[in-house]
Amino acid sequence: MLPKRDLELTRIPIDDLDQVLEIERLCFSQPWTLDNFLAEFERPYAVILGLYQDRRLTAQCFSWLLPPEGYLLSLAVRPDLQGRGLARRLLESWLTLCRRADVVSMRLEASAVNVPALRLYRSLGFRRTGLRRRYYADGTDAVLMTLDLEPGPPARP
Ligand SMILES: CC(C)(COP(=O)(O)OP(=O)(O)OC[C@H]1O[C@@H](n2cnc3c(N)ncnc32)[C@H](O)[C@@H]1OP(=O)(O)O)[C@@H](O)C(=O)NCCC(=O)NCCS
Repeated sequence: MLPKRDLELTRIPIDDLDQVLEIERLCFSQPWTLDNFLAEFERPYAVILGLYQDRRLTAQCFSWLLPPEGYLLSLAVRPDLQGRGLARRLLESWLTLCRRADVVSMRLEASAVNVPALRLYRSLGFRRTGLRRRYYADGTDAVLMTLDLEPGPPARP
């Protein structure tokens, strides 16, 4: 586990796109392209969070916050730093942000064979809500998952 004080959680600036692409290529056999990421940086409702150690991006999370729903689009941790709690830390921060933005239902999809990701999402309270057969280009199924939160009390007048 990396000490918390060594990590900075912040929105990823577009200037760090080269680091985003590097992590993406290291983590996925069918990585998003530069254009895919550029489109996300353009979207007003995209929330793009990163964990930095010094100025090195270690983990990244791309999402949409469209209250009452939030969508987790992509999550990745540098391979040399996996298994140290970074993804959990990043997602817990994302969930806090969702709550503050009045998001009450978070959704995602993950490959049915991605055991680390599925375990992580389950441990955070996501439950399986569906399956898209042969969804990915390599023929694997996608598991659809949802985490529903209780709406907070109404704001006082
Ligand atoms: C999935 C991924 C984001 C997890 O990141 P991570 O920083 O290594 O995860 P953490 O260390 O925070 O672990 C959190 C939980 O994930 C699960 N997990 C992580 N690595 C695991 C592994 N190798 N095997 C099984 N479960 C694992 C566990 O439930 C773990 O909780 P625990 O440590 O209490 O058992 C990372 O493996 C990754 O980037 N993979 C490649 C990209 C990818 O698949 N992204 C998800 C797309 S849906």
